[in-house]
Amino acid sequence: MNKKKKVTLIPGDGIGPEISAAVCDIISAAGVNIDWDVQTAGADVALEEGTPLPQRVIESVKNNKVALKAPVTTPIGKGFRSVNVALRKELDLYANIRPCKNIEGINTPFKDVDIVVVRENTEDLYAGIERQIDEDSAESIKIITRKASERIVDYAFQYALKNNRKTVHAVTKANICKLTDGLFLDCARAVAHKYPQIEYKEILVDNLCMQLVQNPSKFDVLVLPNLYGDIVSDLTAGLIGGLGIAQGANIGRECAVFEPVHGSAPDIKGLNRANPAALLLCAVNMLRYIGDYEPAAKIENALFEVIKDGKVLTVDLGGQASTTEFTEEIIRKFKAVEF
Ligand code: NAI
Repeated sequence: MNKKKKVTLIPGDGIGPEISAAVCDIISAAGVNIDWDVQTAGADVALEEGTPLPQRVIESVKNNKVALKAPVTTPIGKGFRSVNVALRKELDLYANIRPCKNIEGINTPFKDVDIVVVRENTEDLYAGIERQIDEDSAESIKIITRKASERIVDYAFQYALKNNRKTVHAVTKANICKLTDGLFLDCARAVAHKYPQIEYKEILVDNLCMQLVQNPSKFDVLVLPNLYGDIVSDLTAGLIGGLGIAQGANIGRECAVFEPVHGSAPDIKGLNRANPAALLLCAVNMLRYIGDYEPAAKIENALFEVIKDGKVLTVDLGGQASTTEFTEEIIRKFKAVEF
């Protein structure tokens, strides 16, 4: 066996622990030698340690440089600030990359979706600067800076170059948010000039949503401020079969945290029904990031084969299999190839 690599694992809550266990089982069965540095975070941790995101979690990711993270619940309309947003901000994970490509065997209205959402990950309305003005009104401040906008657009163009992509669309609502989205657009235009080999286009976010559900094959790489990126990436996940298969990665200059698009799915928590595929695809991407290309390909191929077979699928993909059965089938698939 090769040398053990240390990776932070944030199992999250809701369906997080179930899908994390499934993914760890698959990685271990594939013979990858990872020393998981398990770090809990979220509401239960807040009760015990006074904060949902203790410093130990941040230090662990800083030390290991790479993490696999399952979802963490954020109280809706009240309570503590999102652990997910805080972690991205603390570690300056400025680029959130969410690729959405059709997977053979999953029936969807469109067969030629291959879109990469590049979402700015540190500012916009996620800055969490909100104020109650009086009982009947509140305000939230949208922060857009030149530094963050230029570096995310540059990331999108670099991504396009390295991955043989043709077009980058800058997505805004600059007709209405003239100063904030207007600044993002100015930055996009300036950065685009440095990449004449990549086609640059602009589109308003509402028009983008309409066109995505009519003709998604028109789109290639999308670069967006934080909030639009969050919403549009759920939409693109829907185009390829839903959140159960939508992977993502948060990339910074110093470290990377691989986490799926979906949340903690409290509606199916503890039912052994969650699809671990999105987190598994994140793990595959993480393995490639740390240089474990062979097991990454082995796991990815097995997952795609199981989906293509269509016999053992989780409920979100139209099947009846439990998380455990789906996990075992993936392991069985790559073991069958080995012997
Ligand atoms: P959600 O993504 O958790 O669930 C939306 C729908 O998709 C639900 O019906 C759920 O059952 C289904 N779903 C999601 N992942 C699935 C999977 N792996 N397998 C099968 N079905 C799956 O979104 P929701 O309900 O809006 O948010 C729940 C909580 O998650 C909230 O507290 C939210 O703040 C948090 N959240 C956390 C994220 C993170 O940790 N990065 C990202 C998004 C939301």
